[in-house]
This record gives sequence, structure tokens and C-alpha cells, in this order.
Amino acid sequence: MGSVRSVRTLMWPAAWMLNQRWGGITSWLARWFPKTPAKSVVALKTSIKVELVAGKTYKWCVCGCSKKQPFCNGSHFFKSPGLSPLKFKAQETCMVAHCTCKATQKPPYYDGTHKSEQVQKAELGSPL
Ligand code: FES
Repeated sequence: MGSVRSVRTLMWPAAWMLNQRWGGITSWLARWFPKTPAKSVVALKTSIKVELVAGKTYKWCVCGCSKKQPFCNGSHFFKSPGLSPLKFKAQETCMVAHCTCKATQKPPYYDGTHKSEQVQKAELGSPL
């Protein structure tokens, strides 16, 4: 799946230009290369603490569709075209609280935003 995603990433600028010029040549282009990326959805309304291992690279789910929160499981490929995970490397081995409402101002980390009225009133799986 990684190579398919890489090809899509390389083709995105050309497909986007064609889509802009001809107003969406096909539904296929519009589906896989949307003019505006999908919006993140609220996965959970709490943070999740995870032990990170120093030097290991992680992919934090940006779209909110992963069933392996807070990390990406590849669901964005079909459920949220235009969004991709945030890769980061752990600097030290430690327990860290990660955001799952996808509204944090310090991605991928928890910053307390999920306690806001806007997030608490939102339905799980819906955008803010
Ligand atoms: S599943 Fe959400 S970014 Fe990959």
C-alpha cells in the first residue's frame, strides 16, 4: 500500500491542476484528488497515553478514522483522501498523552482541547 500511496502523492499536483482546469474531469479524479482535503473527525473525546520508545518513528492519525487510535492504520487512504498521518520520531522513551479529538494545537500531543464545549458536543466520527 505504501507504493500506491507514493504514486498518488507524486500524481497529486498534476491531477489537481487538471481537476481545476476542467472542473473535475471524472468522478475518479475528484474522489482521489479532491480540491480540498477531507476534514478530520473526532475519534474519541479523551487523550490516550502511549509509551513511546526512543528513536522509533510513529504515525499519528490525523484523520480520526483509524481504529488503532492514536496511530494511523491506513484508513485515511479510503475514508479521508487528501489527509495523511503525521510522522514523528520519539526523542526519549516515556509515556506521552496523545490527542484523539484531532483538534489539538500541538499535534500529535494532547493539549486539553478535547475538554472544550465544541469537542464535547460533537458526535464521534463527525468533523468539528
Ligand atoms: S488512518 Fe487516520 S491518518 Fe491514517
